[in-house]
Amino acid sequence: MSKKLIIAIDGYSSCGKSTFAKAIAKELNYIYIDSGAMYRAVTLYAMRRGFIGTDFLNTPGIINELKDIHIEFVHNPDIMEFETYLNSGNVEREIRGVAVSSYVSRISQIAEVRARMVELQRQIGVFKGIVMDGRDIGTVVFPDADLKIFMTAATDIRAKRRYDELISKGIQVEFDEVRKNIIARDITDENRDISPLRKADDAIVLDNSRMTVEEQMVWVRRIIQKKLHGS
Ligand code: DC
Repeated sequence: MSKKLIIAIDGYSSCGKSTFAKAIAKELNYIYIDSGAMYRAVTLYAMRRGFIGTDFLNTPGIINELKDIHIEFVHNPDIMEFETYLNSGNVEREIRGVAVSSYVSRISQIAEVRARMVELQRQIGVFKGIVMDGRDIGTVVFPDADLKIFMTAATDIRAKRRYDELISKGIQVEFDEVRKNIIARDITDENRDISPLRKADDAIVLDNSRMTVEEQMVWVRRIIQKKLHGS
C-alpha cells in the first residue's frame, strides 16, 4: 500500500488555508478536514442555546452540552465538496456569517471545547491520508504530522479575500467590518492561554500574499514528493 501522510496546515484566518488544503487533498485523494468549521459549529450551537452574546458567556452551559453537539462533514455531490452539519442540519452557510465569526474566538478559548475537538480531530486522522487546517494542528492535534505548513499573508489581502468570499456567497458585509474582525481574531488566536496560534518548530512557512493557488501547488508538490518518495 502506498504511504499516506498527515498534512497539518496552520496559520492566520483568511490566508487561504482551506483553499490550499482542499487543493492538496483533491490532488492526493486525501480527506480534507476544516477544523475551524468545528469550532464555528460549536459557536453556532452556543448561540442557538443562548449561551453566548455580546456581553455574556455561559461557559458551564456549553461544557455541559458538549456531549449533545454532533458535528459531521457530509459530501454534497452538487458542488463536489463536504459541508458542515450540526446535529444533522446543514450549517455550512450559517457558520461562515459575521455573527459566528465574531463569537468563535471566545468559544475556542474554552479548554473543554478544545479538548473535545482535538479528540474528534485525532479520531478522523487515525487512518492518515488527511489534510487538516486550523491553528493548532501541527502543534497540538498532530505534533508528529508528516508535513507541517504555517501560512501567512498581509492583513489587507486577507481581509479582501474573506470579503470577496462572503459577498460571493451572497452574505452582505462591509469591508471594514471584515478587516476589523480579522485583526481581532489574530490577537485572540495568538494570545489565548490554551493552544495559541504559533508556528510549530518544524513547520515550513508559506507567505502567499502574492501567490496564486497554482503557484502554491507547484511549491508544495515538490515538498510532498520528497516526503512520499524521498526525491
Ligand atoms: O479557520 P477559521 O477562521 O474558520 O476558524 C474559526 C475560528 O476557530 C478561529 O478564529 C480560531 C478557531 N480555531 C481554533 O482555535 N483552532 C483551530 N484548530 C481552528 C480554528
